[in-house]
Amino acid sequence: MLRKKLIAGNWKMNKTASESSTLAQEIVAAVGKQTDVEIVICPPFTSLESVGKIVDGSNVKLGAQNMHPEANGAYTGEIAAPMLRSLFATHVILGHSERRTYFGETDAFINKKTLAALKNQLRPILCVGETLAEREGGSTLKVVQTQLEGGLEGVSKDQITSVVIAYEPVWAIGTGKVATTEQAQEVHAFIRSLLAKMYGDAAAQKVRILYGGSMKPANAPELLTQKDIDGGLIGGASLEARSFVELITAASAASK
Ligand code: PGA
Repeated sequence: MLRKKLIAGNWKMNKTASESSTLAQEIVAAVGKQTDVEIVICPPFTSLESVGKIVDGSNVKLGAQNMHPEANGAYTGEIAAPMLRSLFATHVILGHSERRTYFGETDAFINKKTLAALKNQLRPILCVGETLAEREGGSTLKVVQTQLEGGLEGVSKDQITSVVIAYEPVWAIGTGKVATTEQAQEVHAFIRSLLAKMYGDAAAQKVRILYGGSMKPANAPELLTQKDIDGGLIGGASLEARSFVELITAASAASK
C-alpha cells in the first residue's frame, strides 16, 4: 500500500488535562499497538504534556491543533513550534476552518505556519474546504485550489511528502451532514491532481489526503475505501474512545 491510512483526532476545545489523560489511556489500551493505520491525537495545548507521556512508546502519535509561525517572541497567548517539539508532538493541524472563521486566519498566515512547522520537523495537517455558500455557488474547486496553493507556497518537493492535507467541507463540520462519497472523492482527486501539477505525480501519490466533516463509524467504511481518501480528521467522534477506535478499525479494514 502506497499510502498508509491516517486517523487523526481533533479534540478541539474539549477536555481538561485529567479528562484528556483518561481518554488517551483508553485509546492507547485499545489501539496502541496498531501498526497498519497511523494514529494521531490532537488534544488542547494544556493536555499535550500529560497525553504525550501516555502515548510514549505506543503507536499513537501526538499532534497540536495550531501554532504560531514565529519561534518565540512577544505574541501573548501563542505557542511556537519548538515548544510543541519539546513535548514530543509530531503533527500540527493548520488552517482549520474554525481558525479561519473565528480568528481571521488567512492563507498567507497559514502558509507561514506551514513553513515553520516543516522547519521544526512537525508534520502539518493543512485543512482546506469550502463553505455551503461556496459549494452552492459552484466555486468549491476554486476555493480549495486557492487555499491549497496559498497554504503550500514555498513548500519544496522534498517537504511535500511530510505534509498531510485534510479536505473538510465547512458545511459538514460538526453538523452531522457528511459529504457524499462522490462529493468527497471528487475533491480529493482534484487535490491530488493539483499536487501532481505542483510536485510531480510520484510525490502527489505519496501525500495523504484526509476527509473531515462528520466522519463517524457508520459512514467511514464507504468514505475510507475511496481511491483518494487516505484517512480522516475526526472531531466529534474522536472525543470518545469507542467511536474513535471504531474509525481506526474501519481504516484498517479499508487498507486490506
Ligand atoms: P467533526 O469535526 O468530525 O466534528 O465534523 C471535524 C473537524 O473539524 O476536524
